Amino acid sequence: MQSLIVYDSLYGNTQKIAEAVGGDMDGEARVVSVGEADLAGLKDINFLVVGSPTHGGRPTQALQKFLQNMPENSLKNIKVAAFDTRVLASEQGFWPRLFVNTIGYAAPKIARNLQSKGGILVVEPEGFIVEGKEGPLKKGELERASEWAKKICKEAQA
Ligand SMILES: Cc1cc2nc3c(=O)[nH]c(=O)nc-3n(C[C@H](O)[C@H](O)[C@H](O)COP(=O)(O)O)c2cc1C
Repeated sequence: MQSLIVYDSLYGNTQKIAEAVGGDMDGEARVVSVGEADLAGLKDINFLVVGSPTHGGRPTQALQKFLQNMPENSLKNIKVAAFDTRVLASEQGFWPRLFVNTIGYAAPKIARNLQSKGGILVVEPEGFIVEGKEGPLKKGELERASEWAKKICKEAQA
């Protein structure tokens, strides 16, 4: 399996998750930041994982641009998965919690975009928790990212 993991990351937490996912994919996996990602390279892969920090309920601007710039049907026959990093809503006060629950998270939006370009979503979008805006990642999240990678490989073969 040839996998590409594309991420954006302001403070490094999403990058760590992306690297943990890449480390546990079957076959060859390349982990690249959205700035380095090359749309032409999509034709050489059979698995694409995209991850972003949640910014205002969405992926980062750079990641949204990357998704928008993907030509129609460019993910035809490519299996896809999406993740984000986020703060835990239940640990916020009432108003921030209501706000976060209303605007949602980046991963489901990434997943919809990937599907709209023809990608085959193999697992539900996943969120990994940071303890505050700059992190660090909540304890156990890197291990959960490794488990998630194993799960998506298993689903991809099913
Ligand atoms: C401008 C900005 C907007 C954010 N908006 C949200 C949000 O809507 N929901 C949320 O759960 N976290 C939000 N966060 C927290 C980010 O999820 C957190 O900074 C990110 O997961 C850290 O990942 P990174 O280290 O890869 O940048 C926001 C952070 C920034 C800087």
